[in-house]
Amino acid sequence: MSDEIKKGLLGIVVDETEVSKVMPEINSLTYRGYAAQDLCEYCRFEEVAYLILNKDLPNSIQLRKFEKEEKNNRDLSKNLYEIIKHMPKKSHPMDVARTAVSVMGLEDKETSDSSPEANMRKALRIFSKTPTALAAFYRIRSGKKIIKPKKSLSFSENFFYMCFGKVPQKEIVKAFDVSLILYAEHSFNVSTFTARTITSSLSDIHGAITGAIASLKGPLHGGANEEVMHMMKKIKKPANALKWINNALKNKDVVMGFGHRVYKSGDSRVPTMREYFGKVAKIKKDKTFEKIYDIVEKVMIKEKNIHPNVDYPTGPTYHLMGFDTDFFTPIFVISRITGWSAHIMEQHAANKLIRPLASYKGNKHRKVMQLNQR
Ligand code: CMC
Repeated sequence: MSDEIKKGLLGIVVDETEVSKVMPEINSLTYRGYAAQDLCEYCRFEEVAYLILNKDLPNSIQLRKFEKEEKNNRDLSKNLYEIIKHMPKKSHPMDVARTAVSVMGLEDKETSDSSPEANMRKALRIFSKTPTALAAFYRIRSGKKIIKPKKSLSFSENFFYMCFGKVPQKEIVKAFDVSLILYAEHSFNVSTFTARTITSSLSDIHGAITGAIASLKGPLHGGANEEVMHMMKKIKKPANALKWINNALKNKDVVMGFGHRVYKSGDSRVPTMREYFGKVAKIKKDKTFEKIYDIVEKVMIKEKNIHPNVDYPTGPTYHLMGFDTDFFTPIFVISRITGWSAHIMEQHAANKLIRPLASYKGNKHRKVMQLNQR
């Protein structure tokens, strides 16, 4: 066995998957063989969620059934609403999401059943309830009354409604839907690998998704969309952008929303999300962040040949939609639950305990001295 260390598992293929792939021949991320940008154009998020979980796009009967189940499972238990009401108001919503999914695991009657059928039912419940938990916290922390989910609304419409009490115009909802489609799945990224690692000990889906949420929170992964917005707020106006980015490069800072482990010449999700960012900016009549976006991107590509990843356009898009910055990564969660769940089920179907080795560089063998001799 080779002792060569591949830090960060760089370039290591650890398993097989049927869920998604970046296909070089079409230069695109694909879910179950479909290009993500085509799914954005022709499908609603619910269809893509079905595709990721069930391996194929639904026909209209399958979609209606899936949507009905999603809507029927949106509401939370009284207990979970109470827990959310008592959470510290300053909690990061990612920690709220993590805790809420963990509590769902305590309440779910099928927690210890990891059969494919039970896992599919539990995945759907987590998928349906997590937006409600997040929106409830969104309201409570600003002293507002919780808004219960509404069955007449789509997944995206309902999230806006539960957060803000109203559904925005359809172009804004479409842009949000597109962001969810683009965030839904991305193979063995760190949060998905975390979920698969937890699953590999034959632990349950609530635990695996709880761990995945913790992993997504970090700024090198999902947390980047919030960091992008902090950066844009710091830059403040387009006239400051060039100086800011040149300084950042001089200081060798990591510029959030740029770079990717897999894509080295551009994240295939960016052009689609950039287009919808522009549409939202136009509707909101606010081009400030678009101008900052373009200046920073141009310099990053020219000076470093580092391209933006999908977190770069989603950050300012969510800001223009009216979401608080610390809700950006939780929005990523409500979408990625689909990808995580598909991977958890795939791991269960062909499991092998994930247990890599480490090259030891600690002390040589030492004799234990009794306490009074140390
Ligand atoms: N800003 C400045 N320099 C960068 C950046 C960046 N965003 N990304 C990579 N580099 C440089 C890095 O300093 C290194 O330079 P050198 O070889 O001189 O040391 C080189 O590019 C290779 O980078 P790396 O960090 O070794 O590459 P990686 O594959 O380990 O890291 C990454 C990928 C995403 C962690 C990194 O690009 C990064 O930190 N980006 C900022 C955070 C971010 O936007 N994360 C979101 C990732 S994509 C969507 C998601 O998962 O949410």
